[in-house]
Amino acid sequence: MSDMTRRELVGRVAVAAAGAATALAGAAPARAEAGGGAFTLPALPYAEDALEPSIDAMTMGIHHGKHHAAYVSKLNDAIAQAPSLKGRSIEEILRNINDVPEAVRASVRNNGGGHANHTLFWTVLKKGGAQPAGSFAKAIDAAFGSLDALKKSLTDAGMTRFGSGWSWLCVGGDKKLGVESSPNQDSPLMEGRTPILGIDVWEHAYYLKYQNRRNEYLAAIFNVIDWEAVGKNYEKAAG
Ligand SMILES: [Fe+2]
Repeated sequence: MSDMTRRELVGRVAVAAAGAATALAGAAPARAEAGGGAFTLPALPYAEDALEPSIDAMTMGIHHGKHHAAYVSKLNDAIAQAPSLKGRSIEEILRNINDVPEAVRASVRNNGGGHANHTLFWTVLKKGGAQPAGSFAKAIDAAFGSLDALKKSLTDAGMTRFGSGWSWLCVGGDKKLGVESSPNQDSPLMEGRTPILGIDVWEHAYYLKYQNRRNEYLAAIFNVIDWEAVGKNYEKAAG
């Protein structure tokens, strides 16, 4: 092999490796970057107008590009003041929230929760939605009686959450499904449960289109819930 050919080959391998690293970073957006301790805003997995008319494009653009981006930025400010947290995933940090240094604990709770919650939220939505199947569908029937009953339970949890918060479908320590709600940006991870579906009931998630009609937003969002993606989360958490 000539020197020129070898140099070209090495260059191409380096480019390919950089591409693979970029793809990996995209696949694991909620994890801290190796060594840097900085979290990044994951790209939306669809266009901002993909979920119209259930979720309008302006709400989606501001929700992701301003609100979620602000959580990421403030989380990074907090992590910069707590070197012991660098390199840990956000899930690991939230599961051990009481170990976070007190000086930054409230900020990590709010902004780290905001980052993790929204990162999950974008991935359980999809144009046209998708139906649950297999062992996940059976688990829904066993726990709630039917998918419609589960939807009602999630709606009730969202409607009765006073102020800002989330409605959740979680897998508990006993591997069973359960519905709950949380205030602010608190995550079920802080209580030892694994959220597999989160529905944002902050006004910023719906006010531009639905104003005070949270019930209409909650009815519409079930048109775009990707139950297939939720099922994959279930397999990971319960398997
Ligand atoms: Fe939100």
